[in-house]
Amino acid sequence: MVQETRLVPADLIPRVVGRYSPVTVDRGEGIYVWDVDGNRWADFTSGIAVTNTGHCHPRVVEAIREQAGRIIHAQQNIFAHEPLMRAAVELTATLPPSLNQVFFTNSGAEAVEGALKLAKVATGRPAIIAFRGAFHGRTHAAMTVTTSRAKVRGHYEPLLPSVYHAPYPYVFRSPYAGRPEDADLAYFAELEQLFDTTVLPDDVAAILMESVVGEGGYIVPPSRWVRMVRELCDRHGILLIMDEIQSGMGRTGKMWAFEHFDVVPDIMTAAKGLGSGMPVSAVVADRAVMDRWAPGSHGGTYGGNAVATAAVAATLAVIRDEGLVDNAARMGQRLMDGLRDIQADHPVIGDVRGLGLMVAAEFVAAEGGYNPAAANAVIQACMAERTLLLSCGTYDQAIRIIPPLTVDAAQIDDFLGVFRRAVASV
Ligand SMILES: Cc1ncc(COP(=O)(O)O)c(C=O)c1O
Repeated sequence: MVQETRLVPADLIPRVVGRYSPVTVDRGEGIYVWDVDGNRWADFTSGIAVTNTGHCHPRVVEAIREQAGRIIHAQQNIFAHEPLMRAAVELTATLPPSLNQVFFTNSGAEAVEGALKLAKVATGRPAIIAFRGAFHGRTHAAMTVTTSRAKVRGHYEPLLPSVYHAPYPYVFRSPYAGRPEDADLAYFAELEQLFDTTVLPDDVAAILMESVVGEGGYIVPPSRWVRMVRELCDRHGILLIMDEIQSGMGRTGKMWAFEHFDVVPDIMTAAKGLGSGMPVSAVVADRAVMDRWAPGSHGGTYGGNAVATAAVAATLAVIRDEGLVDNAARMGQRLMDGLRDIQADHPVIGDVRGLGLMVAAEFVAAEGGYNPAAANAVIQACMAERTLLLSCGTYDQAIRIIPPLTVDAAQIDDFLGVFRRAVASV
């Protein structure tokens, strides 16, 4: 909840803006932020998986400053401009050849809206399949495909028609009998069954999935299941949209999380880490798909903003030049190993999971049920040591640990010390 502070009187900001920490922030650098009283905090939230290059990376700051002095609003329907082109070149250079055109937009939800609209136009089909537990944003279409928490959708009905949901393979809590290694087959059978019970495949424009579920609990899908979804799309002429808004930009130890599964989506969405905190997102697809979008049939005033796209180009250059994807893989392994050591001593941690620096620890009650109280107590205990963390999952049963990708070994080890003390205290 919003608290009274010197700078932000609570009665000016609606309570819909929750506040997870008591910090009134003054500045940030790398993995740290400083509050207005000069205290340093370790930011293991990355502002919800955004500051992958660290807070205020000097090269990103310089690109923003330089561009702001030249032109800020170079409206993309009116002007071509250098930062937009550079951002598109840098972004497509990180992607497979079939993801070769970029539509820049402003937020994650807006990119999801764009991807869904593009799939409908490109296929001439009406329906969308999404996965239970996913989060795709808060605009009307994005809410409709979101089922991470009822409160995101509740009291906003009616939502979009012709959207269907299948279960996402949250294998740690699989409801299916049999070996956990085979749970993905049962999950996949439920997806396929939609075509027998609910919607005909040739009515489906797209299957939309998060490459790794973010808000819904940091859930990594089995590779075989992802490949089966890809094949299912191919069999029925359905476009596969992979939402890389939280999992992309090096976060998982590969540039894009879909690389872990040996698949390529037809349409990809990116945001969050894309502009190091500038409000910018992207829909990426093959030229043949993008060409189905007639001029004027989609757009927006601010998309492709010059300052935002200058930040995108600089962010991608920093990730490349500083080897941040490899660092995410290495530091992620160190983090995961340390968390598993803590788990071995504290059975209140039921699962440690993730890829690269997209890592979470799920807390369990004695009988194995959800334990959001323990997760929250650990977050509060870390906060008392000026370390910021966020929960995730429908029940806030997990803590996500997502420092900037610039984090070093000493900072990971410091964090593990704080986290161990916090877990021991609950
Ligand atoms: C996977 C995913 N998609 C979409 C969104 C929506 O992004 P935004 O909040 O920028 O609209 C988010 C935000 O958390 C996300 O994690």
